[in-house]
Amino acid sequence: MNELFEQLDFVENPLYERIISDLLESGYSIADAFFSEQEVAILRASLLTKYEEDNFKKAAIGNRTNEMIAKSIRGDFILWMDESKMDATEAVFFNKVNDLVRYLNKTCFLGILQKEFHYALYPKGTFYKRHLDTFQNDDRRKLSFVFYLNDETWKPENGGELVLYLQENTHEVPKIVYPMPGRVVIFESQELEHEVKPVLESQRLSITGWLKTR
Ligand code: OGA
Ligand code: MN
Repeated sequence: MNELFEQLDFVENPLYERIISDLLESGYSIADAFFSEQEVAILRASLLTKYEEDNFKKAAIGNRTNEMIAKSIRGDFILWMDESKMDATEAVFFNKVNDLVRYLNKTCFLGILQKEFHYALYPKGTFYKRHLDTFQNDDRRKLSFVFYLNDETWKPENGGELVLYLQENTHEVPKIVYPMPGRVVIFESQELEHEVKPVLESQRLSITGWLKTR
């Protein structure tokens, strides 16, 4: 009976379906309408308030057992989000992410059981050199999720573009993604090398995270 209910409960979501088919076909997906303009605005304000309160830390390379700060590799400042202590604004974010995770688990058997997200701020002049989002001693990260919180005045000339190094047959095809406000980029953490080009103007704001298996 419960199973029957779960099936009846399922409503096909065209946006999620497109994300899934993009991921299967190309290993990445770009969704510009994942969050509304108003949601972007309140989450941007939340990031900036926390940054001004000085809660952000210089981001490190690698995980806890392999930690070092290397400005030559990445220059962003981050603040990890804690879903168990989220406020109403962060609940808007986590509700949407959790809805996507439920959908992925139901339709793709991905087995996403954990997630981790942080706010990120790249000051002018900073970047994140080409890398893969998985650690040598931890391969639980399956999907990377980046959500840009820049404001409407953000221009491509500001730099800070994400470059995804796609593999097509034997050659590499770089795909440039501008960090436009409200844009969400999802990609396969274990497959896709990528980099953040230097920020030339202003500061680059985002929430970045990973959907993980246990
Ligand atoms: C990362 C990362 C990409 C981006 O934080 O690991 O690659 O566009 N971010 O911010
Ligand atoms: Mn990355």
